Amino acid sequence: MIDKIKILLSEIEQLIVSAPEEVEAARIKYLGKKGTISSLMDDFRTIAPEQKREVGMRLNELKQKATEKIESLKKQFEDSSTGYGDVDLSRTSYPIPLGTRHPLSIVKEEICDIFKRLGFSIAEGPEVEDDWHVFSSLNFADDHPARDMQDTFFIQSDPQIVLRTHTSSVQTRVMEKTAPPIRIICPGRVYRNEAISYRAHCFFHQVEALYIDKDVSFADLKQALLFFAREMFGEKTRIRLRPSYFPFTEPSAEMDISCNICGGKGCPFCKHTGWVEILGCGMVDPNVLENCGIDSKTYSGYALGMGIERITNLKYQVKDLRMFSENDVRFLEQFQSAH
Ligand code: DAH
Repeated sequence: MIDKIKILLSEIEQLIVSAPEEVEAARIKYLGKKGTISSLMDDFRTIAPEQKREVGMRLNELKQKATEKIESLKKQFEDSSTGYGDVDLSRTSYPIPLGTRHPLSIVKEEICDIFKRLGFSIAEGPEVEDDWHVFSSLNFADDHPARDMQDTFFIQSDPQIVLRTHTSSVQTRVMEKTAPPIRIICPGRVYRNEAISYRAHCFFHQVEALYIDKDVSFADLKQALLFFAREMFGEKTRIRLRPSYFPFTEPSAEMDISCNICGGKGCPFCKHTGWVEILGCGMVDPNVLENCGIDSKTYSGYALGMGIERITNLKYQVKDLRMFSENDVRFLEQFQSAH
């Protein structure tokens, strides 16, 4: 009997199965009510008393080993039925290389963040616009050169529908719908029909800011500009306002900052002047307020607009504008952001 048990034990230990049904068949064969182990148990009653102890121990061992083996065979199919085999699902994943943000997005967010800290909120508008929002409402005379075919892309030769040439169109859209106080910042893409070169592109990006309330003065504008320049380019940055002209602001100005490349001493970037121009601004022309249904006797406001590419160039010294739209990863990978 001991020999029988030994043979059975090694048979069970070497058992190999290829399907769950075979496991069940093996279980019935060895552990079932009429299985081999049960019949050995029956035989056990008939053996000589002096053998009972040893045979009993071996029989119990056989039964236990057989049960364990069947269990482990069952498990083998349970695991592989998940489709993952012996993959450890609790392991940490392999590191996935992260992409980087586009430099224009990094700078756009930085500009918006600075204005958000002054209480401005984001407003957006359509890139395909009508003449009213891009030009007429903003006080552009009918014969203003900015409407020229040279600059503006028209949609389906309809002179009333254009690709916006500046984000100032969002000013009008918000003023038409919102009662003052208004404090908005409008980032977005704009289009101009220009020959593409290292200095110009047919599309680029702007950020526009507009503040309308009672008693808004040029001093408020200047304060916001100084705050912006210092936050963006560093504490030591100085600003300079030069009189200028825009149809939608009166008075109008252009703002220069002390060249942040040479610190104002003079270098090729600032053409040895120590100053670089970064934005246009002014007090919103009363005609524009009236065009949008805002009483210009009660309210006044300031507006400013800047090119994101220009600010990005100042921060990162990108020499060729075309790099921004070519999507060359060797260029893009150089920009890391905290966002
Ligand atoms: N819209 C102007 C442009 O595209 C930029 C600008 C100038 C915006 C003065 C303003 C502003 O809001 O007050 O060149």
